[in-house]
Amino acid sequence: MIRHFISLLDLSTDELLSVLDRADELKKEVKAGHTSQTMQGKTLALLFDKSSTRTRVSFETGMNQMGGNTLFLSPAEAQIGRGEPIEDTARVISSMVDIIAIRTGPHGNLIRFTEYSRVPVINALTDFNHPCQLLADMMTVREKLGRVNDIEVAYIGDGNNMCHSWMIAARQFDFNIKIAVPEGFEPEADLLQACKDKATLTNQPLEAIRDVDVVVTDTWISMGQEDEKQQRMQAFEGYTVDTKLMENASPDAIFLHCLPAYRGYEVTEDVLDGPQSAVWDEAENRLHAQKALIEFLINEK
Ligand code: CP
Ligand code: NVA
Repeated sequence: MIRHFISLLDLSTDELLSVLDRADELKKEVKAGHTSQTMQGKTLALLFDKSSTRTRVSFETGMNQMGGNTLFLSPAEAQIGRGEPIEDTARVISSMVDIIAIRTGPHGNLIRFTEYSRVPVINALTDFNHPCQLLADMMTVREKLGRVNDIEVAYIGDGNNMCHSWMIAARQFDFNIKIAVPEGFEPEADLLQACKDKATLTNQPLEAIRDVDVVVTDTWISMGQEDEKQQRMQAFEGYTVDTKLMENASPDAIFLHCLPAYRGYEVTEDVLDGPQSAVWDEAENRLHAQKALIEFLINEK
């Protein structure tokens, strides 16, 4: 059976934990100057119609380290950008490569592609969620706190794709998340309902952050929302994660941000670059976590 990774819900908790275990092993290997050649002769196609630094570099480098190849296609270069249907593109590309990662806006387009793909498809970010980021985030939480379950998380900012991904992670990894968003920027209601045992909503950042182990935020202006910049800047006033707000979290709390970060907006420079920030390890862990994910999906196939 082909396994896809469209959401963290596509893998069981045990499977997710085994991917994280393998990611830890792969990280150790890289640090020791050795890389397992588990992807020799395999090709990963990357279909990205949005900008990327971390996701692209981690997938391309990871595949190269494992002895495989990558193929990067943007809509400007592929016929899909000139109107070739998603279904036809999926059938053709998946007849030639071994695994595909897609970054696009509409989540429905990713689902349509997946339905016609003969090989595993990885969600490399949609407007709805960003599950690869959460693999790296949970790997980082475990490195820093020694566990992924039984923790308290505060998500402060926009109820966007990152917020959704953290909510789903709370279900899969069994932790509690308090979400502070301004009115009108809530996460999707259906998802909130599905995660109601683990996720709670407030309009007060201070209420969300009190005594938590992990503080998370993300940009207030996601890709594609550039026209809403002025309105969003106003709406998110008071939601900046600064040192004063951080003082209300547990003294050992870590700060996470998927990056790119906008210093002075969703987070201040002293928090992002400060002692509680784990964002650089978090970014590096994209490499190790996605290598483990690729191995898992290819081996399942
Ligand atoms: N966090 C993340 O996905 O970064 P990129 O947009 O640079 O890939
Ligand atoms: N919410 C951001 C995440 C970037 C990795 C966006 O969708 O642009």
